[in-house]
Amino acid sequence: PIRAQIGPSVLNADLSRLYEESQKLLDNGADFLHLDVMDGDFVPNLTFGHPVIKCLRPKVKNAFLESHMMVRNPHQWIEPMADAGVDQYTFHIEPVIKTVPDIVRKIKESGMKVGLAIKPGTPLEDVKPFIQDADLVLVMTVEPGFGGQKFMSDMMPKVQWLRENYPELDIEVDGGVNTTTIETCTKAGANVIVAGTAVINAEDQKKVIAQLKESVNV
Ligand code: DX5
Ligand code: ZN
Repeated sequence: PIRAQIGPSVLNADLSRLYEESQKLLDNGADFLHLDVMDGDFVPNLTFGHPVIKCLRPKVKNAFLESHMMVRNPHQWIEPMADAGVDQYTFHIEPVIKTVPDIVRKIKESGMKVGLAIKPGTPLEDVKPFIQDADLVLVMTVEPGFGGQKFMSDMMPKVQWLRENYPELDIEVDGGVNTTTIETCTKAGANVIVAGTAVINAEDQKKVIAQLKESVNV
C-alpha cells in the first residue's frame, strides 16, 4: 500500500529557531518536514535556501526533508540542495516545462527523490508526460508564496484524476490544509499532506498532527 504521511511546513514558524521548531514538529509526530524555498521571482516572497537547510540537516538526523522549490530556475539548485542533504526535491514545472526530463534526471543522479509541483492555474495536461518518471506529484491548493491562505477545493478533480490513473503514485497537497479540509483531500486520493499554519499555530500541536494523521490513514 502507498504511504500516508503528514509533513508540516515550518514557513510560518519562528524561523530564528528553525531547529527547535523542526524538532518539535518531529517530536509531535511529523512524518517528514516540508521546507518552502522561495526565490522572490517565481513567487513574490523570499524564505531560505540550501545554506540554511545544510545547517539544519545534521541536527534532525533521521528526518526526511522535502524542499518545495518555488523558484524560477530549479536546475540551479539541484546540486546545492543534494549537498545540503535534502531527501526530496519538489520543483514547479511551470518555468521549465521544456526541460523537465533533464531536471528530473539530474535530481535522480544526485540521489534525491523527485517531486513535480503544479500551481492552481496549471492544468494536469502539463505534468502528465512526466509523471511516470517522478516519485510524487504536488497539487497546490493555494497560490504558492504565503502560508495561511484559503484552501481551494476546486483542485480536487486534479487529485482524483491522478489517483484514478496512478494508484501507486504519491500525491501531495499543499496550502490551506487543516483538520477539516484534509478530509476532502484524502477522499480525492491525496496521501502526502502538507500543513503549515494549521499545525504551527495550533495550541496543541501534537493533537492536531494526530488528528491529521488519523484522517490520512483511514
Ligand atoms: C505556500 C507553501 C505552503 C505553505 C502552507 O506557498 O508552499 O507549504 O507553507 O501553509 P498553509 O498550510 O498555512 O497554507
Ligand atoms: Zn509548500
